[in-house]
Amino acid sequence: MTNLQNHVALFAGLGGFILATEKLGIKTVLANEIDENCNKTLKTNFPDLYIEKKDIRELSFVDNVRNKDIDLVTAGFPCQSFSVAGENKGFEDPRGKLFFEIPRLLKELKDYPKVIILENVPNLKNFNSGERLSVIIKELRSMGYWVNQNNSMILNTNKYTKSPQSRNRLYVVALHSKFFRSNKISKEILVETKPHSLWKIINKSKKVDKSYYLSNENKHFHMLQNLVNKHGKEFVYQVRRSDVRVATQKGVCPTLTANMGLGGHNIPFISDDFGIRTLTIEELLTLQGLNIKNFNFPDISRASKLEMLGNAVHPEVILEILNKILTLKSS
Ligand SMILES: C[S@@+](CC[C@H](N)C(=O)[O-])C[C@H]1O[C@@H](n2cnc3c(N)ncnc32)[C@H](O)[C@@H]1O
Repeated sequence: MTNLQNHVALFAGLGGFILATEKLGIKTVLANEIDENCNKTLKTNFPDLYIEKKDIRELSFVDNVRNKDIDLVTAGFPCQSFSVAGENKGFEDPRGKLFFEIPRLLKELKDYPKVIILENVPNLKNFNSGERLSVIIKELRSMGYWVNQNNSMILNTNKYTKSPQSRNRLYVVALHSKFFRSNKISKEILVETKPHSLWKIINKSKKVDKSYYLSNENKHFHMLQNLVNKHGKEFVYQVRRSDVRVATQKGVCPTLTANMGLGGHNIPFISDDFGIRTLTIEELLTLQGLNIKNFNFPDISRASKLEMLGNAVHPEVILEILNKILTLKSS
């Protein structure tokens, strides 16, 4: 059985990977994150966490964890340059280049970690027949990791957790050859489950804070109302850059994205018994697998919360992957 004790979280965001590892008793010994609001959120939820609040390009392991046995490194590195919705410049974009900070830091450690988990958008694998993913695989292999296209899985959150959010993301799992004889982590060994309906999380006959309701003077109100009249109240609706659209499935929320907090498009709307409204922060937290009883945001704007939520990794998808890794034989 694999034993994982110490974890380093790079591009930590609000701590999605940390929540998953915590559940398994794996200690996060260092988190790195540049954004001030993310750092405040990490401090609020993990008061004892050691955080390096800086640009990863200025981070070094020399003064902190270099001589520790680090078993697991996770990184949901920025996806804007790989996303179909973004400029799609890949590693040409300075944000895309940030991936290379991960191998740079791994090389500073006294030993390579047993396991690396990376998360990003599916287009990183899909673009040009996996050309960009090959760059990542090559880099990891050059450090002695077992990893191939099969260990780089596009998983939909609503297939592997109870969350009724359709969220396809790429998860790359690399296992070090010093500890493992192969890498058996692939989509085929993960356990699929059926999601709850969104209407189990959202009670349409309960009024929420008035700030969530659209006034009928809002420029999107009539477009949304027309769509609701056509498709009914079982669907989620989304305001896009120039139009509004209906979700493809009843009772399932489309992917929550960081854009929700950066100008407002992609925000999910529903029609409840009191009007047309956006989903509340509590509802979005639940959709992202964060327990509203013990996850708290500090006093920051709603837009920042939305951005962080759209960026976050769903902890239960990571739990499923980690549980499988823990059952593997390692030396
Ligand atoms: C896709 S999000 C990761 C979200 C995280 N996995 C979670 O569960 O919340 C990428 C994160 O990288 C951070 N980031 C972007 N550029 C960075 C840099 N140069 N140094 C450190 N962190 C950076 C962003 O602030 C953002 O929180």
